Amino acid sequence: MQAYQQKAEVVSTEKVTGDIYRFTVKAPDIAADARPGQFVMVRAGDGLDPLLRRPFSIHQVAEGGLVQILFKVIGKGTQAIAGLQVGQHMDVLGPLGRGFVHNTMQEHYLVGGGIGVAPLLFLAKQLLKKNEPSAIRVLLGAGTKAEISTLADDFENMGLGVQVSTEDGSLGKPGLVTDLMVPLQNENKVMVYTCGPYPMLRAVAGVSSDKGWACQVSLETIMACGLGACLGCAVLRADMNGYVHVCKDGPVFDADDVAWL
Ligand SMILES: Cc1cc2nc3c(=O)[nH]c(=O)nc-3n(C[C@H](O)[C@H](O)[C@H](O)COP(=O)(O)OP(=O)(O)OC[C@H]3O[C@@H](n4cnc5c(N)ncnc54)[C@H](O)[C@@H]3O)c2cc1C
Ligand code: FES
Repeated sequence: MQAYQQKAEVVSTEKVTGDIYRFTVKAPDIAADARPGQFVMVRAGDGLDPLLRRPFSIHQVAEGGLVQILFKVIGKGTQAIAGLQVGQHMDVLGPLGRGFVHNTMQEHYLVGGGIGVAPLLFLAKQLLKKNEPSAIRVLLGAGTKAEISTLADDFENMGLGVQVSTEDGSLGKPGLVTDLMVPLQNENKVMVYTCGPYPMLRAVAGVSSDKGWACQVSLETIMACGLGACLGCAVLRADMNGYVHVCKDGPVFDADDVAWL
């Protein structure tokens, strides 16, 4: 699989809420090859600080060679990216990694937590090409309404059924996203696709296993190279007998292949 390095022009910026942004860049080669669940490594401008690119899921691609990322400002790298204006450029490398595997399951549950919702919109669009909207269910969890309401609208505007949980109860069911999963009964073959913080992924993998649903998880680790060269993104395999590398073997894994520590 080929990765491209592009000086991508920023064509639109959106402040979704507080410290969450959605940026669209022109990166035609990456847009043409990208698959849901893959990621890009991004650096703002040509400066030396921060030196390393930062990993972001591909949020959406669109006609005209457009690639979108949805990101939360955490530290120096994301702050520098958030400071870019339309017409400026970012250094983008991708598409990288292995994304979600589409299969012939009868129903598809997309389970996102916080900024982990990012890759699920692209996945939903792809699934809709081969499935009725009724076969796709979206379950989103966040701390507050502000963090999730715009993103929930995006899925609803695609005609999908969306359920939301917030920890402060400001939107949807008060509690965690797994509280939305537990009551679901389904005799059909279900695939769960999930992305979010590690404790949430572990809990989603656990509920899926209890229910007999297959589950793919998109893992996040700190990444230096994103290309399999530095070995800094290693996570323990389920058999505790060696490691997989999130940037090269993932970021999407079958939940059964990961040691949930
Ligand atoms: C495959 C992949 C996809 C990702 N997709 C997205 C996305 O779509 N949107 C998004 O907002 N973020 C995403 N992330 C996380 C994002 O890469 C980090 O938030 C970013 O690198 C932080 O960079 P920074 O320079 O702003 O912060 P830094 O200055 O590098 O870090 C600030 C603090 O955050 C910690 N930190 C940095 N990265 C992570 C991480 N991945 N997990 C937990 N703690 C971290 C550091 O240890 C440090 O304490 C993804 C990560 C991976 C591996
Ligand atoms: S980030 Fe360097 S090997 Fe994965």
